[in-house]
Amino acid sequence: MPNTTEINATTFSAESYFATQPEPPTLKADIQGVSHFIDSQIEKGRKVVLVTSGGTTVPLELNVVRFLDNFSAGTRGATSAEYFLKQGYAVIFMHRQFSLQPFSRNYSHSTHPFLDFLEIDAALPSSSTIDSAYPYSNDPSPSAAHPHITVKTSEKAALLSLLRAYKAVQAKGTLHTLTFVTVNDYLYLLRAISKEMKQLGPKAMYYLAAAVSDFFLPKQKMSEHKIQSGKGSLHIEMDQVPKVLKPLVSEWVPAGFVVSFKLETDPALLIPKARQALERYGHQVVIGNDLHHRKHHVVLVSPKSTASDRKILPNGVEYEEMWIEIDSSPSAPHKEIEEGIVRELVARHDAWIKRA
Ligand code: PMT
Repeated sequence: MPNTTEINATTFSAESYFATQPEPPTLKADIQGVSHFIDSQIEKGRKVVLVTSGGTTVPLELNVVRFLDNFSAGTRGATSAEYFLKQGYAVIFMHRQFSLQPFSRNYSHSTHPFLDFLEIDAALPSSSTIDSAYPYSNDPSPSAAHPHITVKTSEKAALLSLLRAYKAVQAKGTLHTLTFVTVNDYLYLLRAISKEMKQLGPKAMYYLAAAVSDFFLPKQKMSEHKIQSGKGSLHIEMDQVPKVLKPLVSEWVPAGFVVSFKLETDPALLIPKARQALERYGHQVVIGNDLHHRKHHVVLVSPKSTASDRKILPNGVEYEEMWIEIDSSPSAPHKEIEEGIVRELVARHDAWIKRA
């Protein structure tokens, strides 16, 4: 007999999902933090953007050993968050645990490890450089207690400018981060944060860059312990995750400016799928990106500005597309496409606030 997890696929509405799936134990504490953050931003009159980033997982067992993951390093979300901060927004950065974060993403352990741009002072005796500088060394000599660590000259200017931006954000208190791992964490957090942000009305933007699982195993169908191998192939029937964009747009934050992303691997599908999403959910912008070129061009699809009132969607609405591109040739100066995306969205959000 093959391994089989149970059965009878159900179609969950958002309502039935939240009625049957357990609330994450950290939710209340997380939301308290968000609530304080929003209060202080309202006092300062700032616009607030919720950035979701990274991929959600779907555990296959209650005592999790195996899970399915959605593709996303968190680059889009972390980079965009930095540009929103630069534009004066307060940012709630809701990301997959251990995915990239604003500022520190520039020194990712895999592409730009920070240990590689630090140097140990050449004045140290050569015999003591590595061992005595190592934090677990027992060497009591003064050079071991105060090793001289410097930043490589070639890295200094970039690090200084980043550090200044980071410290300024810390001093202003405009960045609040919180994490999810599973799709269940994500859905509960998204709903609860949206409800807190509702009071911001049109001054809130929702920038949903996270890659969210489309299928999941409800708790009631999960094996308690690790699924055993040795019984042949594994058959799993998963249920569909409810598309929470629908209640988000129509119930949770009806006055907010909502931007979702559409990831495709066939570029020909980008615009039709983005339009389909707008028709289905009636929000403001879908950003279409194809997997292999997402760092160099994206398309913003939106209802024509004259038709941007959600109430007249979904029928009979005309759409407009705007491509944002950066030069991908190796000799081109370093640029990030998120800068252009954020600039355009901020302009549209300002117009949205004015109209409201
Ligand atoms: O982090 P990087 O490596 O830079 O990659 C960035 C990215 C390619 C992951 C990002 O730019 C992106 O495209 N994110 C969205 C990918 C995705 O999950 O697309 P989707 O078609 O499954 O969902 C479309 C929208 O519906 C999303 O904005 C999502 O928030 C929303 N959704 C999805 C599933 C679900 N159950 N409910 C939802 O509301």
